[in-house]
Amino acid sequence: MRVLFVCLGNICRSPMAEGIFNKLLYDMNLVDKASCDSAGTAAFHIDCQPDLRAQQICQNNGIELRHKARIITSEDFKLFDLVVCMDRSTQNNVLRVAPDNFHSQVVLLRSYDDTAITEDVPDPYYGSIRNFEEVFDILKKSCSDFLRQHLL
Ligand code: 4NP
Repeated sequence: MRVLFVCLGNICRSPMAEGIFNKLLYDMNLVDKASCDSAGTAAFHIDCQPDLRAQQICQNNGIELRHKARIITSEDFKLFDLVVCMDRSTQNNVLRVAPDNFHSQVVLLRSYDDTAITEDVPDPYYGSIRNFEEVFDILKKSCSDFLRQHLL
């Protein structure tokens, strides 16, 4: 299964989700069952490394982020089985890029977490390091629930 995580800028939430997902695949012995990448819907930060706060929180949890920001394209719908969005605004933007017959591949990450109080992973960009920690925990829970539902 090939998974593309998508947020707005591709420097905070989706590269963190990519790093967390890869670590979970490794820890759960599922590396040959799935792979992932990430992308954004806005072009502000193309080719930039993840936000330093995202890198820091991930590093504290044993995850090195090596992604460079890129924008989602219509080609991605052929390359990935699922396009997993960080919030409803991103999902709407992604659906505008998606060819008609690929709309069912576009899902919300938090829909996999039964305990989630909202469908959105909050955008930490204008927040504090504490907001990045909260986002890390949300992503870890949703990614592990995603893997349990799809691959176990
Ligand atoms: P992300 O966060 O979508 O999680 O990567 C953001 C990054 C940059 C901006 C907004 C959100 N920005 O407005 O530049």
